[in-house]
Amino acid sequence: MELAGKTALVTGSSRGIGAAIARTFAANGAVVILQGRDQDALARVHGQILSEGGKASVYVADLTILPDIEAMRSKIADDCDPVDILVANAGGSFARPALIEEIDPLEWNAAITGNLTATFLTVRAFLPHMKKRGSGNIITLSSAAARKPYPVAPVAYAAAKAGVQIFTQDLAAQVGPFGIRANCIAPETILTERNEQRIPPDRLEAMRLQHPIPRLGRPEDVGQAALYLASERSSWVTGIILDVAGGAVLV
Ligand SMILES: NC(=O)c1ccc[n+]([C@@H]2O[C@H](COP(=O)([O-])OP(=O)(O)OC[C@H]3O[C@@H](n4cnc5c(N)ncnc54)[C@H](OP(=O)(O)O)[C@@H]3O)[C@@H](O)[C@H]2O)c1
Repeated sequence: MELAGKTALVTGSSRGIGAAIARTFAANGAVVILQGRDQDALARVHGQILSEGGKASVYVADLTILPDIEAMRSKIADDCDPVDILVANAGGSFARPALIEEIDPLEWNAAITGNLTATFLTVRAFLPHMKKRGSGNIITLSSAAARKPYPVAPVAYAAAKAGVQIFTQDLAAQVGPFGIRANCIAPETILTERNEQRIPPDRLEAMRLQHPIPRLGRPEDVGQAALYLASERSSWVTGIILDVAGGAVLV
């Protein structure tokens, strides 16, 4: 129960990594605020947490839309205890991998907006209150795609996630004196429902063998990393990029 007494907002927790982080936090005593856009998926995660004995509530918002974020922030402020832990997890790969000269500018914008700008807007909304309280813990999500160059990289997504890394480090430098920590998790391929449906089995096997620890990541692997960063065990850790990658990113 390392997070007993804490309130944690996990964005993008209707599925995948965010849902696993939310369940891990709830299992460790946090009151979890679930967020996403898909109400049915949010209701499923909510039900799971309650059936596991945890406490959670649900908020729907599109984190690329400023008025949506402001409405969510204000409703959470009315309904819940102050947010101690903010996991800005919502995001995804909104652009197809392509040669740079062939990237569709609309897809480029979607990748930057859906990852970097959404992270910025979310942190911006909750930071003033954390500063006022003199405490807080912020965790962002980057990706192994932003840890080293690949010839067939999803460049827009990688650039957005590299932006999330330096954003988080600048944030850590700014807010440390206010009692707030900020760290970033960079997962390699995680076997979420979406990836299991999207990636063919033979490709999954080839990817598995590229890892020094020869398996792909599970959402729970990221959940445990987030628990470490959210808990007092990491009380002197800020501004790090934590690779959760089975050794596939050795930098
Ligand atoms: N899975 C991987 O292999 C992997 C690897 C490296 C990094 N990551 C990063 O880890 C994070 C989670 O990834 P995932 O694989 O769990 O993704 P996922 O299964 O596709 O889930 C994405 C979550 O983010 C929410 N979301 C996306 N855009 C949103 C928006 N504009 N406003 C509000 N909510 C939004 C989705 O909400 P709804 O579905 O309810 O709309 C969903 O809850 C992402 O930032 C991703 O880039 C994932």
